[in-house]
Amino acid sequence: MKGILLAGGAGTRLYPITIPVSKQIIPVYDKPMIYYPLSTLIASGINEILIITTPHDLALFQSLLSDGSQWGCSISYAIQSEPKGIAEAFLIAESFIASDNVVLILGDNIFYFPSLEFVVANSIKNKGASIFAYHVSNPSRYGVVEISSANKILSIEEKPLEPKSNYAIPGFYFFDNNVVEYAKQLTPSRRGELEITDIISKYYELDLLNVIKMDKGTAWLDTGTVSSLMEAGQFVQVLEKRQGLKVGCVEEQAFIKKYINRDQLRQLAKAFNNNYGKYLISLLND
Ligand code: G1P
Repeated sequence: MKGILLAGGAGTRLYPITIPVSKQIIPVYDKPMIYYPLSTLIASGINEILIITTPHDLALFQSLLSDGSQWGCSISYAIQSEPKGIAEAFLIAESFIASDNVVLILGDNIFYFPSLEFVVANSIKNKGASIFAYHVSNPSRYGVVEISSANKILSIEEKPLEPKSNYAIPGFYFFDNNVVEYAKQLTPSRRGELEITDIISKYYELDLLNVIKMDKGTAWLDTGTVSSLMEAGQFVQVLEKRQGLKVGCVEEQAFIKKYINRDQLRQLAKAFNNNYGKYLISLLND
């Protein structure tokens, strides 16, 4: 299973913050935003990762994440030159995906997901594609899935004005290898983009779509507006302060997954003369 992390887009809703810098680089409390989806991928057991970004932001991500070997991962990069939609990622990533299955995560999606390992193990067993469903108060902002009481999918819609349910589809998707072929068949939507919901709908039509409701202990946080970005930072701060544990710590997830050993973690910690470094050292004593 390979992972794609899509960190494109202009982030116009966060202007002026994102005029000179990619949205996925800006901080969410104590880490750059991209650390959160990256650590979600690593916690899912994925260490072969392609980051898709804009020509303008590529160098920034390379200086932050390098080739991933410091975390026992392989991180490579590809360019999306214009914002032509999330599903274009599968066309850009065709040679990276090769004959494997693939997970796509959006660079601005932050998860606090205690049951992640269990859920991922189950979704990998499923055929076709798996998506998540998360109950939100404002579904019109998102892809929306309507689910019957027997957990059967009834409809999939992108940003409906009159949503048929409160279940939004987070930007974290599992696909089999056919996703590249289905992406090639897509035509741009009215807003001129290759829509991820059109890919999801294709799997639905073929009866190969699974939906997993995220349980109540899970948080999926929005970072699309200045106020939701602030709230996401506050959520991470409250949780980290209360528990003394970090959310979205890439080094920690790489250590848990045994992609790096104790010596490597100790080496990484040395680069931080602050609480982040102290936290990494504390993981050695756990
Ligand atoms: C995109 C997708 C949408 C999904 C959302 C999750 O929307 O099109 O289906 O629910 O990501 O973050 P965007 O936020 O890019 O408008």
